[in-house]
Amino acid sequence: MKITPQPGIMDIALYQGGQSKVEGVSSVVKLSSNENPFGPSDKAKDAFSRTVHNLHRYPSTDHADLRNAIGEVHGVDPARVICGVGSDEIIAFLCQAYAGPGDEVIYTQHGFSMYRISALGAGATPVEVPEVDRVVSVDEILKGCSDRTRLVFIANPANPTGTMIDIPELTRLAESLPDQALLVVDGAYAEYVEGYDGAAALVEARDNVVMTRTFSKIYGLGGLRVGWGYGPAEVIDVLNRLRGPFNLGEAQLQTAEAAVRDVDYVERCRVENATMRAWLEEKLADCGVPADGSCANFVLARFSSLEEAEACDAALKAEGLIVRKVGGYKLPNCLRITIGDEASCRRVATVVRQFKEARA
Ligand SMILES: Cc1ncc(COP(=O)(O)O)c(C=O)c1O
Repeated sequence: MKITPQPGIMDIALYQGGQSKVEGVSSVVKLSSNENPFGPSDKAKDAFSRTVHNLHRYPSTDHADLRNAIGEVHGVDPARVICGVGSDEIIAFLCQAYAGPGDEVIYTQHGFSMYRISALGAGATPVEVPEVDRVVSVDEILKGCSDRTRLVFIANPANPTGTMIDIPELTRLAESLPDQALLVVDGAYAEYVEGYDGAAALVEARDNVVMTRTFSKIYGLGGLRVGWGYGPAEVIDVLNRLRGPFNLGEAQLQTAEAAVRDVDYVERCRVENATMRAWLEEKLADCGVPADGSCANFVLARFSSLEEAEACDAALKAEGLIVRKVGGYKLPNCLRITIGDEASCRRVATVVRQFKEARA
């Protein structure tokens, strides 16, 4: 073989998705990918079914109906919304468009792995900066900036920590970045935070902030692959030039449109998640497993060591409960547990309590 890949590609470690099977266990509960345990709304499922009649037609290229629905529901300008194959695709477009060889892309110590992967994929240099006690630090990001910085990615709330920073801190970050850099606020979990706009108003107020969002989490559509971005008109124009004309099929577009319009369903899921998250955090704390107060649909359970985290993971797996080991996120003594339905949360709490009691 004479042909070789572009520099950076072979440095990409393959993305590890959440496990969904356990050898020898037939009935499992998947709590490893931050999916909505209730799935999508009935309205979204009906919209999906209806698209079967038009499979022979190419889909819309401009996504106008979905963008208008997003605009109405989220109070954003639809002309500055771009829809992608998951928010992953928007993250990749940003790196392709703005970061190449010699440019730096900043992400934080426990940041979502696609930032590094997409930066390397674009030939840029990923730069990891520290967090402070599992929270993004604006000061550390600013220390990590240079005249080569082109993009700064933070998820707010963050995955896998579940922590977030407030709008004044986000604003301070946007105001203090070097002129040639864009701040990307990834709002994959924004809908789980009551009263939080995912930084939409900051996008509105400034010309150096982009927000990304997804239908994979609270909307229960991870299997469909739809995400979106919101940013300054010039940035969205640049990203649209990279976007394949038919990147989203009609089933994706129409299902996502029905999902975003079903605001009552989203609110019910948010409330249910908040209730069970508080309950699970308390049960874990009661048996000596602390977690930072999570703002998302998972908790990051902290054990005393890697060995203890792995043993608890094995105990959960033996009961068919699949959670996520996060050593790859530099959190070796932690397990990330997606908030499932009430029955799943109760099962997790019971297994962790019995596990801790057996070791006491
Ligand atoms: C912080 C964060 N951003 C983006 C994504 C990607 O979501 P999507 O399914 O929209 O590509 C995820 C998915 O886990 C995530 O946790």
